[in-house]
Amino acid sequence: MTVEDENGEEKQEVKKGYEFLEDLPGIGPATAQKLRELGFHTIESLAMATARELEPAGIGEKKAFSIIEAARSSISVSFIRANELLRMRQNVLRLTTGSKSLDKLLDGGLETQTITEFYGEYGSGKSQLCHQLCVNVQLPPERGGLNAAALYIDTENTFRTERIVQMATHLGLDPNQVVKNIIYAEAYTSDHQMFLLDNADEIIKKNNVKLIIIDSLTSHFRSEYLGREMLASRQQKLNKHMHKLIRLARAFNTVAVVTNQVMAKPDVFFGNSVHPIGGHIVGHTSHTRVYLRRSSRGPVRIARLVSSPYLPEGEEIFKITENGIEDVSEEEKPRSRGR
Ligand code: GTP
Ligand code: MG
Repeated sequence: MTVEDENGEEKQEVKKGYEFLEDLPGIGPATAQKLRELGFHTIESLAMATARELEPAGIGEKKAFSIIEAARSSISVSFIRANELLRMRQNVLRLTTGSKSLDKLLDGGLETQTITEFYGEYGSGKSQLCHQLCVNVQLPPERGGLNAAALYIDTENTFRTERIVQMATHLGLDPNQVVKNIIYAEAYTSDHQMFLLDNADEIIKKNNVKLIIIDSLTSHFRSEYLGREMLASRQQKLNKHMHKLIRLARAFNTVAVVTNQVMAKPDVFFGNSVHPIGGHIVGHTSHTRVYLRRSSRGPVRIARLVSSPYLPEGEEIFKITENGIEDVSEEEKPRSRGR
């Protein structure tokens, strides 16, 4: 529903917002408890749920539809006019990577409401970028940040607080404060990783999280689901996991970042080519994919925008230093031929 405000402008009618699950019609304390156990702690996450997902809470299809509908109307998720869609698009915020070149490749930085995937070989800088984003998200908007906190799901135990302190200090931020605003969890298995994300909604809401990181998205899935016969169930789980992530990113207007290793695949025509793990499912769900690789010059990395909903492919360079992710200076750039 839209109403006109005092200036005659159409705007979304603010419905009476429900605050707790128990406020929704048809949800008593016992059902609310079961829903929480399933990972639905907030009205926002219920609004993005499917009836099937509520089944394990003993909620029949009909009741599930009415609960989801009530949650949706509470936060205004239903049919909207295209001009409102445009307005939603205008709510998209951008987060700086720390490198102007890399930001340019991404048309101003990483977007909220979508998933950005960084993939590349060992040492290509995926985790370093994740660290940097956790610091940058805490910067004020005029410095490319979102004045917000970060949520970090670490599957390979590579998160280092010391590195955050280095990066924060370089940006003139209080390292103690910066470290406090990173909510961290180590995921021990793929099921645990999924469980953590399934239960993240309340933490995101309470802590003003505007950046969700999964580093790495695929490592557990890769090591647990071996062989061809496991491939279908692995892809199904990965698909579900990614959809949970995209729904959280939309419901809470957050940036979502996943990292992915690559594997070499023998190619008849081009020799060995590299492919991100997880194949098409991850490919279709992650909206922006960036391929990172090392260069012949130490700290310099090459980033290639491989797919994006609306940006052209392109390549830029950046470097990883003591300070974090930085631009390569003009003097450091490779000289063009003939000079
Ligand atoms: P995998 O997770 O193994 O697939 O690799 P990754 O892509 O996550 O690599 P990561 O981001 O961990 O990059 C590691 C590289 O970053 C190192 O090889 C260093 O070149 C660089 N690096 C990491 N920490 C520092 C640091 O404190 N100072 C400097 N100068 N470089 C660093
Ligand atoms: Mg890493």
